Amino acid sequence: MVTSGKGGVGKTTTSAAIAMGLAKKGHKTAVIDFDVGLRNLDLIMGCERRVVYDFINVVNGEATLHQALIKDKNCGQLYILPASQTRDKDALSKEGVEKVLNELSKTFKYIVCDSPAGIEKGAHLAMYFADDAFVVTNPEVSSVRDSDRMLGLMSSKSRRAEKNQEPIKEYLVLSRYSPERVKLGEMLSVEDVQEILSLHLLGVVPESKSVLNASNAGIPIILDEKSDAGQAYADIVARYLGEEKPHRFIETKRGFFGKLFGGK
Ligand SMILES: Nc1ncnc2c1ncn2[C@@H]1O[C@H](COP(=O)(O)OP(=O)(O)OP(=O)(O)O)[C@@H](O)[C@H]1O
Ligand SMILES: [Mg+2]
Repeated sequence: MVTSGKGGVGKTTTSAAIAMGLAKKGHKTAVIDFDVGLRNLDLIMGCERRVVYDFINVVNGEATLHQALIKDKNCGQLYILPASQTRDKDALSKEGVEKVLNELSKTFKYIVCDSPAGIEKGAHLAMYFADDAFVVTNPEVSSVRDSDRMLGLMSSKSRRAEKNQEPIKEYLVLSRYSPERVKLGEMLSVEDVQEILSLHLLGVVPESKSVLNASNAGIPIILDEKSDAGQAYADIVARYLGEEKPHRFIETKRGFFGKLFGGK
């Protein structure tokens, strides 16, 4: 699952990117939008016009998974299960979610759950059955604090915690990072965030205009291989799958004159 606590930090961007990245590596992957009432993932994946049935229709038995899953137009290994636009935030139940996840896990290698903001029911359900958590955090105090709260819930209120199993594996995705602003003291540094959360750093995603362009175009940013954010997500997927990749996008970029004079 992809989570954060705080809203608007880049969970849906990250969910779309890593789901596409895993699928592109040849793994059959499903990505589920848990944000009941809002629906963002299908926009970012560019499939909003093809939505007929959604997650809650499947939970309620009004459609089969086969009917509701949308095959991605860029990658045959990727399927999207969109969120419902119902106003009823209680439409998802633990049993319903479990049933859908069990069925998906028969044919999918990875199921990416895009959590809604906050720590209420939707976020709890997205988290409850997780094996691995991508904790998306921005380099600012409020985001780090909310990620920390989410980590507390994962270690006490997940199924793994309840059943006394191995804890959820937690990974940090530090998003919207701007080395220049860190230098100016306007943002927390990678080290600051790691010191507070002590999580395994999966990758740093730089603040990048390409992200908004990609989401407007309905193309996950990871497919924009020229963009630094796209490359950062490609590294993140590779590291998650066990590849060694040096971290990038942490240092301020040296300008032409900086390089010329060797200054930092
Ligand atoms: N690396 C980035 N650089 C620049 N903008 C970004 C980056 N990542 C995300 N954004 C922008 O931040 C905004 C929020 O992103 P996104 O919808 O992925 O967050 P979210 O955590 O899913 O939000 P919510 O909590 O509302 O579901 C979007 O406008 C997105 O384009
Ligand atoms: Mg979102």
